[in-house]
Amino acid sequence: MPFFRNPSKEPLWKDEFSVFTSDERYVTRRQFTKFLTLASLGMFVGNLWILAKSRLTKTPAFPTAEVAEIDEIPVRGVKLFTYPTPQDHCIMIRTSEEEYVAYSQKCTHLSCAVYYSAKNDRLECPCHQGFFSVKDGSVLQGPPPRPLPQITLEREGTKLVAIAVKGS
Ligand code: FES
Repeated sequence: MPFFRNPSKEPLWKDEFSVFTSDERYVTRRQFTKFLTLASLGMFVGNLWILAKSRLTKTPAFPTAEVAEIDEIPVRGVKLFTYPTPQDHCIMIRTSEEEYVAYSQKCTHLSCAVYYSAKNDRLECPCHQGFFSVKDGSVLQGPPPRPLPQITLEREGTKLVAIAVKGS
């Protein structure tokens, strides 16, 4: 006995496979629901994959690298170094007797090298007048879209060492 799904007594296969050219482009509610369900399922599985991958992938460990000796530079003095690779240029500033900060020297706009302006007490990018705060690397003015990545410094005896990069 054939399966009938509606009061018009049309067999199911006629709904699914139209025999009339005029009905070929007609999408039934069932087909549309199937499409939405499969598309949603695909997106759900994709998101699960991304989540699982991000959880299982370990964040890269940063090396520990010596940057300077304590008291090597005066207050408001600057030292340039590279971290974590020789291609990553950074700038360290001694902001007070006990405080040092370090940032990537690459401007977050178009990668020009930033320098420290002691006169204005800020990091400045000469290319498009982008200015960054010395305190936290945040953008003070200009086109840079993000703060400068900050290098985490630690004291090890009489040395300052870089141990990580935040916000890269
Ligand atoms: S490259 Fe630094 S502001 Fe444009």
